[in-house]
Amino acid sequence: MEKILVTGAAGYLGSTICTQLLQRGYKVTGVDNLFFKKDTLFHLKENKNFEFFNLDVRENQLYKDLIPKTDVVIPLAGIVGAPLCEKYYDLAYEINEKSVEKITKSLSKHQIIILPTTNSGYGTTDKNIICDETMDLNPISHYGKTKVNAEKYVMENENAISLRLATVFGVSYRNRIDLLVNFFVYNAVKFKKIKLFEPHFRRNYIHVKDVAYTFVHCLTNFDKMKSNIYNVGLSEANLTKLQLCESIKNFLPDFEIQIDKEGKDPDKRDYFVSNEKLEKTEWKPKYSLKVGISELVSFYKNLDEKDFDKNY
Ligand SMILES: NC(=O)c1ccc[n+]([C@@H]2O[C@H](COP(=O)([O-])OP(=O)(O)OC[C@H]3O[C@@H](n4cnc5c(N)ncnc54)[C@H](O)[C@@H]3O)[C@@H](O)[C@H]2O)c1
Repeated sequence: MEKILVTGAAGYLGSTICTQLLQRGYKVTGVDNLFFKKDTLFHLKENKNFEFFNLDVRENQLYKDLIPKTDVVIPLAGIVGAPLCEKYYDLAYEINEKSVEKITKSLSKHQIIILPTTNSGYGTTDKNIICDETMDLNPISHYGKTKVNAEKYVMENENAISLRLATVFGVSYRNRIDLLVNFFVYNAVKFKKIKLFEPHFRRNYIHVKDVAYTFVHCLTNFDKMKSNIYNVGLSEANLTKLQLCESIKNFLPDFEIQIDKEGKDPDKRDYFVSNEKLEKTEWKPKYSLKVGISELVSFYKNLDEKDFDKNY
């Protein structure tokens, strides 16, 4: 398990995951078509264990030259989030679902695949239910459906793990403000207010660096963990959106929370999640929600608007 191929390497998760994999001594091949026109992997270019291909995951070179030379594939390339998937509807299907199917089918039985997917597939659940990995999925948005289908293809392989990620937060090399925590903190810093819809909808959260650590954890414990699906989130951070805003207000007391009765989440995400299955593998996240909020407050205070990537 030396050589890791990461597609979507220049993205929010990819740029942090590639960085951590290299720090742990893996050889990393990054593939990305730079959909957002930004090279967020500049800091890795001098690393002799890193190579980068500006390549679309639909191109043959991936299947002919790169996949056969790797031990592990982490397919992150995608059109990410419900709004973007509505905007690029067909492309989302091709990249999020069909290309993951094609990658999975091209693997030999010795190669490994670890897929990140979203826990938004749990949809809206009863208040007394804590979602674990055995529950039926009910994705609502096109994004959610493409991810759930991709997971089905991947899990047909024995050497596979699927990670159902909670809402990711924190600073990465490509920054996304469409993610709930990042978006709320950005609004708290820049505008000192937020219009909050569905304030009692419940969500679970995880720091981007802990997501990267989770991939390393899967690689180092692969034999024990393979052929399984895991929720990935902070058990201490099963919070409603209103509770999340109140946590941010602890850092920024003049943050005004206005309730908006009109807005709706296209994924209807309202659930608490159990991360017990992953915790039983001795997985220990390092970054609390408080630490992430504190980092984001500093980041948005210090960030020059012109350097801010608003593409999402
Ligand atoms: N960030 C989250 O909260 C979250 C949660 C659950 C799952 N995920 C999954 O993790 C993966 C990465 O998400 P992210 O947050 O880093 O998103 P992102 O938009 O930052 O990264 C996606 C990357 O894929 C690249 N890409 C898009 N189309 C491509 C193509 N045809 N060929 C090659 N590269 C292409 C983009 O240039 C971009 O760098 C996605 O599969 C997403 O569904 C993310």
